[in-house]
Amino acid sequence: MPRISTAPDLSRADGLAPLERAARHPLMLGLFIPLQQGAWSPSTAPRSTSWDFEYNAECTVRAEELGFDLVFGLAQWLGKGGYGGAMRFRENAADPLLVTAGLAPLTRNIILISTVHILYGWHPLHLAKFAASIDHMSGGRWGLNVVTGYKKSEYEMFGLAPIEHDLRYAMADEFSTLMRRLWTSDENLTVEGRWWRMADAFVAPKPIHGHVLMVNAASSGAGLAYAAKHSDLIFITSPAGADLDRACEALPAHNRAIKERARGFGREVKTIINPHVICRDTEAEARAQYRAILEHQDPVAADNFYATFAGGDQASWKRATREDWVIGGNVHVVGSPEQVVDAFARLHAAGCDGVQVNFYDYLPDLELFGARVLPLLVQAGLRLA
Ligand SMILES: Cc1cc2nc3c(=O)[nH]c(=O)nc-3n(C[C@H](O)[C@H](O)[C@H](O)COP(=O)(O)O)c2cc1C
Repeated sequence: MPRISTAPDLSRADGLAPLERAARHPLMLGLFIPLQQGAWSPSTAPRSTSWDFEYNAECTVRAEELGFDLVFGLAQWLGKGGYGGAMRFRENAADPLLVTAGLAPLTRNIILISTVHILYGWHPLHLAKFAASIDHMSGGRWGLNVVTGYKKSEYEMFGLAPIEHDLRYAMADEFSTLMRRLWTSDENLTVEGRWWRMADAFVAPKPIHGHVLMVNAASSGAGLAYAAKHSDLIFITSPAGADLDRACEALPAHNRAIKERARGFGREVKTIINPHVICRDTEAEARAQYRAILEHQDPVAADNFYATFAGGDQASWKRATREDWVIGGNVHVVGSPEQVVDAFARLHAAGCDGVQVNFYDYLPDLELFGARVLPLLVQAGLRLA
């Protein structure tokens, strides 16, 4: 049985909605939970990380106790062997919708975000109902990361024809508009949409904070237009690859453009990026761990993983190299606790409202982060005490 969080219930003290509370920190802090076997790195260097519920629950409960604002789970559909190689990278992958529902009663404060591929056979009424239910199970702490799916193979798994990139976001716009109407309407809804219809449809309970926290991770023009209109929190990728210096040059304009787009709809959005953090007491030890991950790479899994992101019609990750993908994540942050804090300060200065970290060996890396990095983040003024 997974452990239940010992954190005090913060909403009783401040009455804030979870994203409002998170946003009081100069830099929001999230954890990208390892729901997929092998998490982010097609490498067999030793580690404890597991895709199973118990391990992910342990990570989430610990992250909450350490004061993290959110956890996030991605969704994927892969065939036998996952991305392949001897390690069968990501073959086992727990579903984030169900896992985050399971995490709700184990936690008190932390925001639980699940990805859902809304175009793989869902009706907005289904997802509006499921989302409102998990919203209640979690006391208004659940977030929905709407993705449209960029892999032809995933559409084919569901017996569907792949959909052209920008059309996917037009469909996501209608889908999300219908969910919001279901969450806010006090009357039955009858709608003849372009893609979905409903007659006398109704959702109750209504989400606790009026609507469910909406999240997206787009990079393209069409994707960001969707996100600016519908999302409260937008996951961004470095437009310049995983190198921190290059990322920090490119990110200010990227963040500004997203926020300006949202203001065009009269909305304020938060942006968050996912650095892969390799932190050790000294830079030399952190670099040694970086090299160990690379040296233990599973070459077949690494080739296939890299090819997925280098190809496809999605706009994200186009500048990331094969080596970047063996380590995993979006921007690499490798060094001592002081260097990690310095990197986060630079991402913050580049306009990112939050970081959501990936680790290699999740539980011990999280523990070290809590003990050594978090106090320095407070000292640096990036986190409230
Ligand atoms: C942090 C993050 C998480 C994502 N999670 C998923 C996911 O779980 N499943 C998925 O199919 N796509 C996921 N994506 C991909 C996005 O949905 C999107 O397709 C991609 O960023 C490309 O942007 P575009 O669709 O605007 O071209 C994720 C992207 C980011 C940056």
